Amino acid sequence: MSEGKILVIGGAGYIGSHVVKALNESLFAVTVYDNFSTGQECNLFPDNKLVKGDILDSAKLEQTMSEGFDAVIHLAAKKAVGESMEKPDFYAKNNLIGSINIFNAMLKNGVQNIVFSSSAAVYGTPQYIPVDEQHPTNPINFYGFTKLEIEKVMNWYSELKNFNYIALRYFNAVGYAADGSVCGMEKNPQNLQPIVMENITGKREKIFVFGNDYETPDGTCLRDYIHVEDLASAHVLSVKHLMKNHSSHIFNLGTGKGTSVLEIIQSVERVTGKKVNYEIAPRRAGDPAVLTASSKSAETVLGWKPEYTNIDDIIKTVWNMELKNNGKL
Ligand code: WQD
Repeated sequence: MSEGKILVIGGAGYIGSHVVKALNESLFAVTVYDNFSTGQECNLFPDNKLVKGDILDSAKLEQTMSEGFDAVIHLAAKKAVGESMEKPDFYAKNNLIGSINIFNAMLKNGVQNIVFSSSAAVYGTPQYIPVDEQHPTNPINFYGFTKLEIEKVMNWYSELKNFNYIALRYFNAVGYAADGSVCGMEKNPQNLQPIVMENITGKREKIFVFGNDYETPDGTCLRDYIHVEDLASAHVLSVKHLMKNHSSHIFNLGTGKGTSVLEIIQSVERVTGKKVNYEIAPRRAGDPAVLTASSKSAETVLGWKPEYTNIDDIIKTVWNMELKNNGKL
């Protein structure tokens, strides 16, 4: 007997594969739906059923959901902030239309519960720190706009239909499964942690620190780095909550602690024993000096708490994954 039947859309991606792993460990029966545009075959687990499909393919979504699921977890989105400003049409199609296709396929098949992968990008420039869920939402990039609009559609559906949702607003996702079971380094990473690791593994000659003149202790930006296995556990709790309580919520997921760009670099150097080749560059447009989360709601309602709070422990999981998959470093 399984705990429930879950469809994980985007389950071969970086966060998706960790969510699938956590669901498997909690004895859910999981089907992965992925188009492998960024997901990787090596991130699949043998226990899970696989449907190769796109979220723009409504017929396939409907056919897949006709099997019946206790909940859907939707992590299939384009997520590069810079690219979203250059190709808003592409982001509108994939993120907005794709999500609506998922919701409509759910309605058609009587699937009532969804956990949605949202983002701190819905808040825009923070007006106060730590950011809680009551903070005004005012995205400053098209990617963040798509996440906020999808939340609003879910909110309307929850008012009008038999539809319950939990939107999880992730802060900065980092780390890998501590046991090395998720293989995939992202192709063409855009975020700090994978970029720094690419320098260590020789894939990138040099990295740039975007600004060291912010009003922070070392002048570089502070972010709330949350381990991907802690994100994954929040999805499991969210599914359980939806199945039991049928109520909709929005939760921030972060540790509440700010870590600077230089502290990430220093941690990578400590953990790997290698030097990071970096250069101070001008500030990047749109970067707030500090962005940290209050995750009190997730703690109170879901009983969620991040286990990883030390940056070296987080970076060790990345290094383990590198050594396992790329052993001849
Ligand atoms: C972190 C810090 C950079 C690269 C983004 C999205 C957000 C969410 C998480 C998905 C910043 C600095 C980075 C580099 C650097 N995504 N940096 N050199 O911008 O905090 O958040 O990812 O939902 O919506 O905006 O993450 O990893 O890009 O940057 O100095 O080569 O590292 O300036 O201070 P960010 P990031």
